[in-house]
Amino acid sequence: MIRKYPVPGPKARAIVERDRKVVSPSYPRDCPFVMSHGQGSEVWDVDGYRYIDCAAGIAVCSTGHAHPDVVRAIQQQAQQFIHISSDFYHDKMVQMAEKLDEIAPFEERAVCFFTNSGTEAVEAALKLARFHTGRPYLIGFYGGFHGRTYGAISMTASKPAHHRGFGPLLNGVIHAPYADPYRPVLGVNPAAGDFGDACVDYLEDVVLRSDVPADEVAAILVEPILGEGGYVVPAPHFLPRLRELCDRHGILLIADEVQSGVGRTGTWWAVQHSKIEPDIVCSAKGIASGVPFGAMVARQSVVTWEPGSHGNTYGGNPLACAAGLETLRLVESGYMQNARDVGEHMLQALQAMALRHPSVGDVRGLGLMIGVDFVTDKASKAPAHDIMEAVVRGAYERGLLLLGCGRSVIRFAPPLNIPITLANEALAIFEDALTEVEAKLVVATMK
Ligand SMILES: Cc1ncc(COP(=O)(O)O)c(C=O)c1O
Repeated sequence: MIRKYPVPGPKARAIVERDRKVVSPSYPRDCPFVMSHGQGSEVWDVDGYRYIDCAAGIAVCSTGHAHPDVVRAIQQQAQQFIHISSDFYHDKMVQMAEKLDEIAPFEERAVCFFTNSGTEAVEAALKLARFHTGRPYLIGFYGGFHGRTYGAISMTASKPAHHRGFGPLLNGVIHAPYADPYRPVLGVNPAAGDFGDACVDYLEDVVLRSDVPADEVAAILVEPILGEGGYVVPAPHFLPRLRELCDRHGILLIADEVQSGVGRTGTWWAVQHSKIEPDIVCSAKGIASGVPFGAMVARQSVVTWEPGSHGNTYGGNPLACAAGLETLRLVESGYMQNARDVGEHMLQALQAMALRHPSVGDVRGLGLMIGVDFVTDKASKAPAHDIMEAVVRGAYERGLLLLGCGRSVIRFAPPLNIPITLANEALAIFEDALTEVEAKLVVATMK
């Protein structure tokens, strides 16, 4: 029997009230969950209600909450020193770069630029791409999300609200269709390949013929799996064909792995499922279990900029490096395998659930990066935003934290070490919430 909490409780309500007066209203918040503490994949709110966390702080808490090894690493580092700045050196920053060199998804030596967030890792990649190639144009994709600073938000094209009121954006940015096989926006000729081929053909035959010359394009920035845009796994030919196009025109391929990286999909990097090597990888989120940290990891031959051309104060912060090194050790020593195993189990369970529920149009994903796409009906595949929102809310009332993405998708992005028992409990809560929502909303729509 799955029970509902009378949420928000009095303590949560009081904090949300205070928050409303002094914290920016721009943060998108769906549920009034106010955290007290967490352990592994479970979190408790200030009124004592217990939740399973399938949001993980937007795919950040890769080792779960308060992992004792990560906590110890941070504590030990804090006792030694908390900050020195990137003007000087420290060993953990070098160790972190050495580890990223070891696991980078390309053969060539990797060189790292450290940041505090994903958006800064993307900024670094865009600046390096222009600097190295001397070319002005940058290509991104509809549905892509890369962050909120001006370069990254200009490359982003997932919701108009991200751009409204902020223009003019960065010059020289062009967007093209992403190879979403569930809702393809271009016609596909099956004899000529899959929707990935159609998208790259469009880039080549339309964008590079009618809009910008290929030899003036510095980089193509792509998420190997769309994150905020709806947890979309692209059609199989998409990334290999992009790599081939970049090679032909001397364009850099930047993989934005801020959400999909660091073991979440069962490999270090999602791009590795496509067996191609990007030139630059952007990482953040799961890399340090929640301590703000990001990295731009680039092939050595691309990193041609000079001292002073790019920098920051906190890059390679010792606390972040300590947490990052411990995180990568844990991910390597079993959590990435768990993401693969529990992820496959959850994917299959959700796909079976889709057969029982008329509003679930598609279930897709790799490892513990799984999206459930809601539709008004399975034939039209029209996005059902209201159903998605109601299920997120219903799950919250029952003790499960979930986040939406895209227009009508719920994402499952729990810590990489979530045990199968908790995953099963989360699935049961999800289906209970979904059943109630369908009884109200789907029947109402059909009347
Ligand atoms: C793929 C991707 N890139 C970049 C970012 C921006 O990261 P941050 O919010 O740490 O700046 C995000 C955040 O959701 C993301 O999903």
